[in-house]
Amino acid sequence: MEYRQERCRRVVLVPLPFQGHITPMLYLGTILHSKGFHITIAHTQFNFPNPLNYPHFDFLKLYDGICEQNISAHNFIAVISGFNTNCKGHLRDSLARIMEKVDQHNKIACIIYDEYMYFAEEVANYLRIPSIILSTSSAAKTLSYLAYPRLQTDGYIPCQDSMMLELVPGLEPLRFKDLTITYFRNWDDLLQHIAKALDRRSSSAMIWNSMDCLEQSTLKKIQQEYQLPLFPIGPLNKTVPAISISLLKEDQSCIPWLDKQSHNSVIYISLGSTASMDNKDLVEMAWGLSNSEQPFLWVVRMDSTELPEGFQEAVGDRGCIVKWAPQKQVLAHTAVGGFWSHCGWNSTIESISEGVPLICQPYYGDQRVNARYLTQVWGVGLEWESEMNREEIEGAIRRLMVGKEGELIRQRAKDFKEKIESSMNQGGSSYNSMNDLVDLILSF
Ligand code: UDX
Repeated sequence: MEYRQERCRRVVLVPLPFQGHITPMLYLGTILHSKGFHITIAHTQFNFPNPLNYPHFDFLKLYDGICEQNISAHNFIAVISGFNTNCKGHLRDSLARIMEKVDQHNKIACIIYDEYMYFAEEVANYLRIPSIILSTSSAAKTLSYLAYPRLQTDGYIPCQDSMMLELVPGLEPLRFKDLTITYFRNWDDLLQHIAKALDRRSSSAMIWNSMDCLEQSTLKKIQQEYQLPLFPIGPLNKTVPAISISLLKEDQSCIPWLDKQSHNSVIYISLGSTASMDNKDLVEMAWGLSNSEQPFLWVVRMDSTELPEGFQEAVGDRGCIVKWAPQKQVLAHTAVGGFWSHCGWNSTIESISEGVPLICQPYYGDQRVNARYLTQVWGVGLEWESEMNREEIEGAIRRLMVGKEGELIRQRAKDFKEKIESSMNQGGSSYNSMNDLVDLILSF
């Protein structure tokens, strides 16, 4: 990263407090700090990061009023709306106090908030500070969300089972089964939640952890909708190479194990921070991996005593199992030749930017949209749509790791890696977007 002179301006960042959202926000903070800005992270009590790991940031703890035990993927709309209601007053009062004592260092240039923490925009308006949105998922997902009102008016929502495999008009190659809303019984709640998150009201710009070489045409469509400057500055994981932003402890023991494996031979399996296989699928995966005869690195977040009897003995040193991996290092390792992924946006970007092809097994939310783009648009992934069954798992792993088809998609992934590297170099699209973003913040 290039370091510039002190800007004497403070930028306040408001992340949504989940791993897949905290990571890109703290990367952004690190980049802006390197450009000379002072950074305050306004964070919920829930998942509050250890400030000692980030001595270059100031932290503001926001009272969130949410009971940790009640937080799950099944009630995320209620949880997010709780954060938006409960954190507003505290953020407003804390920033007002900072502004009263205004000196050069504390002058707040703007608030950058996760698109789901939209209360921050109201606070910014109240305090007459500019605000900018950070979208931590794909532009493709946002485009699909923007289409929901039209799909509802045209009678496609709620979606009939018979239409699951049909292409969504205007969103091809997405099928109805790829849309988040298809799986919601309370789809009206989801529509309201999305409307709040997508209502751009008064923010000055949107930042994307994405790149023109991947999503330029989609970003153009979004820009037509919002008429706001968009800054695709990704991949943030490559722009900030040195820091790890993990809420869980990374098990580094897999790195010396990877060092012993040959080039492109290892399949890495991880479903991110929230999705998980049920017990039956875990058993099929275990035997599929064992029968594939490929070396594998598998993140099993639950207790690995759930793994079937005899499996560890059968695979011996060919398999490495950890509870949480240093994923950035893993995907950058030359031994890793494939990624069995749930296709969360961070995992997607991290994999493509390292030229690692994927087997795409999406679970929920934006993951199905990302998986569809990975397999049908960017051509860097194999689609996994079957029931989990050991023979098919073995077959998919072989197709990716040693088959002709795998070779082709690996080549495409490598091509993307090169394009992404160019976009980050001086004069490249992400490089320019980052400079434009800094200029915008300085202009406030
Ligand atoms: C969530 C949603 O599920 C995802 O769809 C959305 O795009 C972002 O928010 P998550 O499921 O955690 O995120 O997936 P992902 O976006 O891939 O983020 C996971 C992060 O955890 C990645 O940065 C990855 O590098 C990291 N990780 C994952 C590790 O560091 N170690 C691991 O073992 C697994």
